[in-house]
Amino acid sequence: MSHAGRTIPLFKVFMPESVMEPLRATLFSGYIGQGPRVEEFEGALSARLGAPHALALNSATSGLQLALRLAGVGPGDEVITTPLTCAATNWAILAQGAVPVWADVDPATGNLDPRAIESLVTPKAKAVMVVHWGGYPADLDETWSVARRHGLKVIEDAAHAFGSTYKGVHVGTQSDFGVFSFQAIKHMTTVDGGLLLARDASAYSRGKRLRWYGIDREADPTDLRCENDVEEWGWKFHMNDVAATIGLEQLKHVDRIVALHRDNAAFYDRELRNIPGVELLALRRDRESASWIHTIKVDARDEFIAVMRSRGVMTSRVHERNDKHSTVAAWRRRLPQLDAFVARMVCIPVGWWVSEDDRQFIANSIRAGW
Ligand SMILES: Cc1ncc(COP(=O)(O)O)c(C=O)c1O
Repeated sequence: MSHAGRTIPLFKVFMPESVMEPLRATLFSGYIGQGPRVEEFEGALSARLGAPHALALNSATSGLQLALRLAGVGPGDEVITTPLTCAATNWAILAQGAVPVWADVDPATGNLDPRAIESLVTPKAKAVMVVHWGGYPADLDETWSVARRHGLKVIEDAAHAFGSTYKGVHVGTQSDFGVFSFQAIKHMTTVDGGLLLARDASAYSRGKRLRWYGIDREADPTDLRCENDVEEWGWKFHMNDVAATIGLEQLKHVDRIVALHRDNAAFYDRELRNIPGVELLALRRDRESASWIHTIKVDARDEFIAVMRSRGVMTSRVHERNDKHSTVAAWRRRLPQLDAFVARMVCIPVGWWVSEDDRQFIANSIRAGW
């Protein structure tokens, strides 16, 4: 079995031709730093997500670090977090000099299991980091409730989840902080870029300064911004107008892109039922995934990946569990649900580029066995 001699990729960059005209205009406008396009992009994202405090940044990694700092996480503090994510989520905790406290995951979704949080809370705990794995919304109500009981801030890493909703509301908009990624292969891209949503107006204003050296760009400049006092140093985390121009064009297409991902995911949820050796993840009625990636659990996973590759279908685990790396070896704990999840999980192509033919081929191929 092979797929007409080509490989169905797991990721593909979406870039509309129509980006060229506005991009040209920005590139030759004489201003390509953080300027009017960034502001316009932030306004458009605020409107799309229903979140008033939006900061466009150079990456989600920066957004996570900024969120942690705004949440008051510093050296020696603890952040309860999931290992099943991109390294960016947890290395941002390390960058703040803080300690990742690994929580086990829900075996039905791969998301942080809120039932694991309570027993991990110590006086040093400052925040909980949740990741919406593949776009599938985490158990936010339960997470908020335990976080509230212990005075912990909640940061949502929604890098996979542009378009995902929880109880009808866009993820990332109701916690203390929400972070999105516009890196190359996300639902929408600015080549590299990120977004930080802050619930609180004062965290937003502080974040606005800390993304640009701590300088208040809105204060009245008499000599550029030379004499503006920096009360608190910040990073260079802002987005630029070139990236924002691409983002504004991408935003026109993102709902259609997300719908295509979802349609393919729904197809697999129908077609892959009742196949021996295949287990599907949970589908709860109160939330909708943007299906950035589509994870299933299979027996003999490594053989599955090899056989699918031989048939022209790229599949992968996508992210290594973060607690496995040497750099965090000191904080390893027993996580039996995660162990069982990562032993069988694999992601299959689900994105906008997967045609009806492609997805049927993939489903047939899985049904045929490996
Ligand atoms: C869950 C998660 N968080 C954060 C990031 C980091 O995003 P960025 O590349 O925009 O820094 C990624 C990147 O893929 C991710 O998958």
